[in-house]
Amino acid sequence: MANRGLLPPSFGLTGFARRDWTEDHFKEFVKENVEAHCRTPFKDSTWKQLADGIRFVQGTFDDPKAFERLSDTVAELDRDRGTRGNHAFYMSVPPRAFPQVSRQLADCGLAKSTEGAWRRVIIEKPFGHDLASAKELDRVVSEVFDPSSVFRIDHYLGKETVQNMLALRFANAMYEPIWNSNYVDHVQITMAEDIGVAGRAGYYDGIGAARDVIQNHLLQLMALTAMEEPVSFSAADLTAEKTKVLSAVRLPKDLAAHTARGQYAAGWQGSHEVVGYLDEKGIDPASITETYAAIRLDVDTRRWAGVPFYLRTGKRLGKRVTEIAVVFKRAPHLPFESTATKELGKNAIVIRVQPDEGVTMRFGSKVPGGTSMEVRDVSMDFGYGRSFTESSPEAYERLILDVLLGDPPLFPTTREVELSWQILDPIEEFWSTLGQPQPYRSGTWGPEEAVEMLARDGHRWRMP
Ligand code: BG6
Repeated sequence: MANRGLLPPSFGLTGFARRDWTEDHFKEFVKENVEAHCRTPFKDSTWKQLADGIRFVQGTFDDPKAFERLSDTVAELDRDRGTRGNHAFYMSVPPRAFPQVSRQLADCGLAKSTEGAWRRVIIEKPFGHDLASAKELDRVVSEVFDPSSVFRIDHYLGKETVQNMLALRFANAMYEPIWNSNYVDHVQITMAEDIGVAGRAGYYDGIGAARDVIQNHLLQLMALTAMEEPVSFSAADLTAEKTKVLSAVRLPKDLAAHTARGQYAAGWQGSHEVVGYLDEKGIDPASITETYAAIRLDVDTRRWAGVPFYLRTGKRLGKRVTEIAVVFKRAPHLPFESTATKELGKNAIVIRVQPDEGVTMRFGSKVPGGTSMEVRDVSMDFGYGRSFTESSPEAYERLILDVLLGDPPLFPTTREVELSWQILDPIEEFWSTLGQPQPYRSGTWGPEEAVEMLARDGHRWRMP
């Protein structure tokens, strides 16, 4: 951001952690990471400017004295660098520590905005682990921070391709007329990862795939796919439309038939042999946490009546890919010999969120030559890399910048978070009665249960 000229020269960064680091050590740590992830060439002059404003405060969350030191440090930055009392707190802390940290910030006078200066707080997901805990978290945080200064990060909303859903749907004439139950057969939203728990066992075990990804990233993608046109792209107008979708979600009556869970077993990820979830470091060998989850949801609105939305996510799957596939009904009549269309699937528009960002349209086309008409599926592709010279900012870069600017459209509101838990809670409750999730071999596309779940509705998962 500094290289792009998006930070004021007075910008300062203070780290607060329990590690016994010196300021120089912290600066070195920041430098290494900035150098490794900088998307523009690393410039020493920019770094020097930034490094002059970096501080480190060592302390634990239960120590009021440490927070006083934090308060003194930022006051000194305000004075010397001219940050003028504008502070954003990034809570990259375990969720159970949110209340304690919020109260400490309040007690040392850092939480409330003062005249002419703002205070904002960024909270990382998960926002609670069910509806009740999300409400409690919200209550505690709002005792300390003004609700308009709380920014809940869902980094998927910072991705260019996710924001492009709004451009694709609402800047063009050709998608909206067919974006409804007259034409759409079903929608598949996939977030697949090839990595395992990757050093995050402490966070992940007991949370699982649905709480980690479906409750937030996938329900947000679904809301953007299904919502009506917003009056504007302001935070209030966007959330009004997303909230309507989330409120209209209907869960399947038979959760056993329309949801699926899995847990990765040993296998191969490319040329690497990998261990199963239960053998990962830090995982309880008897854990029943799911690493794969798939659910069917319906949206009870005129636009989407009868169109299932299938959401799936998992770790240690075939490859890393996130996509939204809108799959269309077949043409009402096919004036061809039946053998001519045996390789014609359903038309689809696939928004490729990552890694190969773009949009694919799949449709049938005549196979060249021959005397009879034969139709086969082909693809038409838009790729960001080929169409734009501008590079995409990292999702976090965009979102943190929005916090500094005080611009909230890309942040889920409390209501969205609560509605998302309301959708997930009954499913989690049902799963908690089931015991061990079905194992699937690492490097495959998940448990058999998930295949059967779609087959019951006469569908198949796309192979991204
Ligand atoms: C996080 C999840 O929100 O998203 C992780 O907690 C997951 O489990 C990550 O690995 C994936 O993010 P991305 O941007 O790489 O798709």
